[in-house]
Amino acid sequence: MAEKKFERNLLCIGAGYVGGPTMAMIAHKCPQYKVTVVDVMAEKIAAWQTDDLPIYEPGLLELVKSCRGKNLFFSTDVEKGIKESEVIFISVNTPTKTFGEGAGKSADLQYWEKTARDILRVSESDKIIVERSTLPVKTAIAMERILSLNEKGLNFEVVSNPEFLAEGTAIRDLEKPDRVLIGSKETESGLKARQAIVDIYANWIPKSNLITSNQMSSELSKLVANSFLAQRISSINSISALCEKVDADVREVANAIGKDSRIGDKFLNASVGFGGSCFKKDILNLVYLCETYGLQDVAEYWEGIVKINDYQSTRFVQTIMKAMFNTITNKRIALFGFAFKANTSDTRETAALSVTKKLMMEKAHVVISDPKAIKNAKNDLKDYGDDIEYEEDPYKAAKGAHAIAIATEWDLYKTLDYEKLYHDMEKPAFIFDGRNILDHEKLFEIGFEVHPIGRPPLIHFKEN
Ligand code: UDX
Ligand code: UDX
Repeated sequence: MAEKKFERNLLCIGAGYVGGPTMAMIAHKCPQYKVTVVDVMAEKIAAWQTDDLPIYEPGLLELVKSCRGKNLFFSTDVEKGIKESEVIFISVNTPTKTFGEGAGKSADLQYWEKTARDILRVSESDKIIVERSTLPVKTAIAMERILSLNEKGLNFEVVSNPEFLAEGTAIRDLEKPDRVLIGSKETESGLKARQAIVDIYANWIPKSNLITSNQMSSELSKLVANSFLAQRISSINSISALCEKVDADVREVANAIGKDSRIGDKFLNASVGFGGSCFKKDILNLVYLCETYGLQDVAEYWEGIVKINDYQSTRFVQTIMKAMFNTITNKRIALFGFAFKANTSDTRETAALSVTKKLMMEKAHVVISDPKAIKNAKNDLKDYGDDIEYEEDPYKAAKGAHAIAIATEWDLYKTLDYEKLYHDMEKPAFIFDGRNILDHEKLFEIGFEVHPIGRPPLIHFKEN
């Protein structure tokens, strides 16, 4: 059977949280394109071919199934993929550097550069390279320099197209994005490449939501967007500490300020701290960039957001300690939720991990419960000994526990039978609501000692 002829061949290198869903959406919306996703990890590629995808994302499996084998393909053959594609999206990981210059702050670009060199080595025709991973400003230009050093007479245009999808809502974010940002050189060939990428997204996204700019503005906008979002959380979290001191309720404060349309009501939920693979990494990247250009005051301003986030999880554990009579040694503490947010199995940079480590330093017996993230939790904590229990069922996790600590805002925790949980726990039974998702007054009536974030605690037993 002759191979079906497609209008264009698109490739994505990196079949992770970003690459997989992005390309599945493009394939779904653009049946006229052949979309191939490659990755160096054979195991991951094999999983993309099954119904047990390597990542959990609501709606993703249905999307993948709608086009897999028709115009969406997964493969480990990176070289073949490069050769046959005109447009190459790159979404390999760019973790924070752990060594040398910029360690702990700047992005580790080794996979990125290796990918650029692979493209250069294998290519036999002109290509548009789409920078989908989050990268330091001016990486697109640097990449173009590497690629232009070819003796094959080939032309490579590097376009920045940062992702703004949030986990748990990635499919909705891809289908109806607030905006898609496409940054290119403003030369004739750069503008042509920009148009080619605009044309892909224009298959389903209104033109008014397709924003174009130069490469540096686009790269910087990604870092700034995540830093602004994280800044809002650290701002409200810092105020939650004050609320607890002055008997204010952070939810009421958030509601009151959020009604001001200039402030807006989103991203004002006080919490045990933000997590996820992007926020901390991107802020530190911004900090490093500022330091590199001698903007020390600006760097310190943004670094404060990460400091408040660390402070918030430390504060959460301090609250637990203080409430539980300054000792949690050998006490069973059921941690409800380990994913960095609800509706994902992802645990990267989750506040639950720092809380667990701090509880373990106090020799507590931690029982981790989560509907989707137990596997990742086990992996994250594999070096932390056998004194951690994993129990998907929250009722079993809390049986005989001295305390429940909510770390992730899964809906499931809102509707548990707290009377039953209370009955099966040691007394006094404590609840630390690190997400403010529960009905605190009702829990207090049941008998719990209730410690929300940014609200005065509800306690039966008061010391003078
Ligand atoms: C990553 C970055 O962390 C983020 O900054 C960026 O915005 C997008 O890419 P994510 O998709 O969440 O985000 O990462 P991950 O799930 O780890 O996926 C990256 C994939 O690239 C992995 O599957 C890895 O195996 C693959 N990879 C990495 C390659 O195929 N080749 C390499 O050389 C390196
Ligand atoms: C984020 C950005 O939203 C997205 O645009 C970008 O492309 C990648 O990084 P993500 O990390 O998936 O997405 O999740 P997000 O919904 O932004 O939440 C990040 C963290 O902040 C989570 O731990 C979440 O629980 C926490 N959060 C969010 C709060 O603590 N309070 C809030 O009000 C909102």
